[in-house]
Amino acid sequence: MADTLKRITVPAIRAMKGEKRIGMITAYDFPSAKVADAAGSDIILVGDSLGMVVLGYPDTLSVTVDDMLHHTRAAARGAARALVVGDMPYLSYHVSVEESVRNAGRFIQAGAQAVKVEGGKASRIRAIEAILDAEIPVMGHIGLTPQSVNALGGFKLQGKNLGDARRLVDEALALDQAGCFSIVLECVPSELAAMITERVSIPTIGIGAGPSCDGQVLVFHDLLGIYDGHQAKFVRRYANIADDMRAAIEHYLTDVRDGTFPSDEKESFHAASADDLRALYGEGVVIEMPKAK
Ligand code: KIV
Repeated sequence: MADTLKRITVPAIRAMKGEKRIGMITAYDFPSAKVADAAGSDIILVGDSLGMVVLGYPDTLSVTVDDMLHHTRAAARGAARALVVGDMPYLSYHVSVEESVRNAGRFIQAGAQAVKVEGGKASRIRAIEAILDAEIPVMGHIGLTPQSVNALGGFKLQGKNLGDARRLVDEALALDQAGCFSIVLECVPSELAAMITERVSIPTIGIGAGPSCDGQVLVFHDLLGIYDGHQAKFVRRYANIADDMRAAIEHYLTDVRDGTFPSDEKESFHAASADDLRALYGEGVVIEMPKAK
């Protein structure tokens, strides 16, 4: 099999630290994962950001495990090469260690090769260790953790003061020590992300965390300009697909209304002859066949 079709593994991602920057993007269904995979993404994250960009919620808190599994199955079918990481949603790893392991296992059964868990405090570390003990690789996620939006008081830059910065360094070290294979750093000052990246043995993947991280991640809909909600400072928009989609749909509707879609030549089917149709419907029926052009 061609090398390009070999699945990227968790050890391969770990080994990229200091060697090669990691490119990660979210995807939530079969076609988006197929495109992200074909473009060469190392990791496809089926992020709970789908709550906002696909399901239309104001935040990620309403997303359920069943929502995530539905999308993980679809995205996993589209990703032949990239490592697929399933994002554990709010309340799927907060109630008990047993529930956390069971929920993480459902993501693996849905086609993910690893899960992502937000937070680095002691109770999270216990859940992460238990998930790892069930042979499920875990990606950590600290800084702005959107599932904590109410506790944090909004989607804000984290680690601005010395106390918060120190806590984030400690959490990153705890996630590394626990055995996570990588850590997402979201919305933290570049200097802090650089310091964490230097101190941990595993790759850091930044989103709003500056250029020193070992890799970067963006949300599919933000990168491609499909989502027209709030655009964070850290997003770089590489296309405006929503504009192209709207223009194409407007064009189609115009064609329908002025009768130019479908055309008789290209997008229509024809019976072999009017006689065939008379045989079907009886002699009394008058059938006008369109004239061949
Ligand atoms: O849910 C998500 O898409 C994420 C990324 C932004 C890291 O957690």
